[in-house]
Amino acid sequence: MLHDNIKVLENGHLAFGGSDVVELAEKYGTPLYVTDEAKIRSNFREYKAAVEKYFGKESLPLYASKALCCKEIYRIAKDEGVGTDVVSGGELYTALSVGFPSEKIYFHGNNKTEADINYALDNNIGGFVVDNFDELVYLNAQAGGRNKVQPILLRLSPGIDPHTHRAVVTGSVDSKFGVAIETGQALEFVKTALECKNLQLEGIHCHIGSQIFDKFPFTDAARIMLDFAVEVKNKLDFTFKKINLGGGIGVRYTEKHPVVTVDEILREIKNELDIMVSERGLESPIFLFEMGRFCVANAGMTLYTVGAFKQITGYKNYVCIDGGMPDNPRYALYESEYTVYNGSKANLPRNITASVAGRCCESGDLIGEDMQVQEFSRGDILAVAVTGAYNYSMASHYNRIPKPAMVSVNNGVDKLIIKRETYEDILKNEI
Ligand code: LLP
Repeated sequence: MLHDNIKVLENGHLAFGGSDVVELAEKYGTPLYVTDEAKIRSNFREYKAAVEKYFGKESLPLYASKALCCKEIYRIAKDEGVGTDVVSGGELYTALSVGFPSEKIYFHGNNKTEADINYALDNNIGGFVVDNFDELVYLNAQAGGRNKVQPILLRLSPGIDPHTHRAVVTGSVDSKFGVAIETGQALEFVKTALECKNLQLEGIHCHIGSQIFDKFPFTDAARIMLDFAVEVKNKLDFTFKKINLGGGIGVRYTEKHPVVTVDEILREIKNELDIMVSERGLESPIFLFEMGRFCVANAGMTLYTVGAFKQITGYKNYVCIDGGMPDNPRYALYESEYTVYNGSKANLPRNITASVAGRCCESGDLIGEDMQVQEFSRGDILAVAVTGAYNYSMASHYNRIPKPAMVSVNNGVDKLIIKRETYEDILKNEI
């Protein structure tokens, strides 16, 4: 199986996190997001152990909560002792609502609103990752108004292409994120930050992209960041205490994706970093990471009910499901690949080629195209694996479809963590 939390039961049903998916679908209805708490915890533990082992206790493993943002995930993250990064007032509000320690929160975003900045300052978050000059000036003034000195990192773009999907590349020179090193503007950015009396510059940050399976994009980025650190030391006599290399470790959505462990990839990065730091005669900075997808993707599965199997003779087959792009827009946006199972008849061979079609009035509303799948008939439960990241957090109400419920499973015990939306919920802000 793709991940060790997916199994076939004796009754032929699929099990996820120890729970029979057909029973979950009957109990809670479909579409249904299922989140495996035991898997999230083990992902956080592996991540934390690897960060501590290779980068020491001073380096806090951060969870990029845009991947899955809800109260329960912050409760688990808090419990497991990881920090988090947020990118909006809404994410911050959710984290604070369950008592997530504010000093372990970093605030990201290329255009934080004034309301976001003030809200975060009022709640004493651990750090801002400042994206641009305008934000720097505004943040300094607002921190000054509160008589505080706010720790910050500066978001830089190292000019790296990690060979992943164009839409998830974030570290190229022309990216909307951060300030470019290549153009010389990053040096000015540091100079300006050092002049800000109410900001304490701790270091620099970059995030190069997502779904990366080897060390090279990270080590290439690190090399550029370290060369920049040397330039800053020589020209401004300032040493960065922290370098945050962002997130991006890839996960296995289909059998063709490799199995990479966080330990393996961080170990390889660490080995290269040690050489690079000593070659440059630098004092070793604290390296930070902020993984999103890795922490939650394989802890998610989405269940749908099949309404029809449509054969267009000589052309195409469609399995039609009761969800689609409103709960998972990733195929429509990035042609992301998924593995689907017939949850009701999980032993069937994959001998059909079919596309999985959502229910929206939009041809691009697909979970995948021309995939090798099992046979499906009306009433079967179709399970899409590895939907824990960027599904619920990217869900919409397109076609006025209420958002699904989310259920947590933990070694066979299930509990509702997000209620299914109702039609009244959809209308609640309309006058
Ligand atoms: N840090 C920063 C500053 C980021 O922008 C991101 C993701 C991460 C960390 C976490 O990256 P991860 O470890 O999850 O790859 N919606 C897209 C992914 C967009 C990622 C945006 N930034 C998708 O569904 O694939």
